[in-house]
Amino acid sequence: MNATGAIAAAVVPAAGRGERLGPGAPKALRDLGGVPLLVHAVRALTRSRAVGLVVVAAPADGVAEVVALLDSHGLEGKDIRVVAGGDTRQESVRLGLAAIPAEVGIVLVHDAARPLVPVEVVDAVAAAVRAGAEAVVPAVPLADTVKRVEPVRGGPEPVLDTPDRATLRAVQTPQGFRRDTLAEVHAKALAEESAGVEGGLPPVTDDAGLVERFGGRVVVVPGHEEAFKVTRPLDLVLAEAVLARRRAADAY
Ligand code: CTP
Ligand code: MG
Repeated sequence: MNATGAIAAAVVPAAGRGERLGPGAPKALRDLGGVPLLVHAVRALTRSRAVGLVVVAAPADGVAEVVALLDSHGLEGKDIRVVAGGDTRQESVRLGLAAIPAEVGIVLVHDAARPLVPVEVVDAVAAAVRAGAEAVVPAVPLADTVKRVEPVRGGPEPVLDTPDRATLRAVQTPQGFRRDTLAEVHAKALAEESAGVEGGLPPVTDDAGLVERFGGRVVVVPGHEEAFKVTRPLDLVLAEAVLARRRAADAY
């Protein structure tokens, strides 16, 4: 399939519980400046001229609620579909991908939990796939030094080594893919799971990780500090501050 010049579709996995954020509604439906995280994330995608369709993988028991929510936040004119997500992020992405029309050649995958990604990042990822990459991830350099450890519950944990920080990147979304590549690696991962191969391999936490696992080539483009993932309560405090700063700037 030739991805050149094509309009992309985006899958938004939004079916997680948000356990690390603490008790409350599913994370994607939590409030950020009066608007649910998911609505921010979908708007960030629809703002990009590269994206023609957004498929949201909603909590399985919340599909109708998510449809109503998107409508009530002024997204009714956009091509947005909502499907039921799965028990894992990987399954939610696979279910979203299955709802994308066959003729779409480029697929972006964007976490609902990254509400403030700038449109420039979305555009850059889509452009890199259009330019010929099969898998593209936005990423930023690390501020902290990172150590590999032998995990011990409660610690102290022996340090194994310290990777050279200059070679490390913290990876964000949207990640962009040739559609055939993404569909193939998800199908292979599902086949491995059904065959019970899972065992020894470390869990894959992003879609590019699946491409790497099956020998594909992934490239990195610059991400953005505002594309951070809302994971813990402090992230929500930071997101509120970033949003307030944007709104203040827009008011001038
Ligand atoms: N996600 C999903 N389906 C799942 C699990 C996660 O669609 N079964 C989505 C989340 O909604 C989120 C993204 O994957 O947009 C990234 O996952 P994460 O930040 O881990 O979110 P949660 O799984 O909701 O949070 P936690 O792990 O703290 O419960
Ligand atoms: Mg999770």
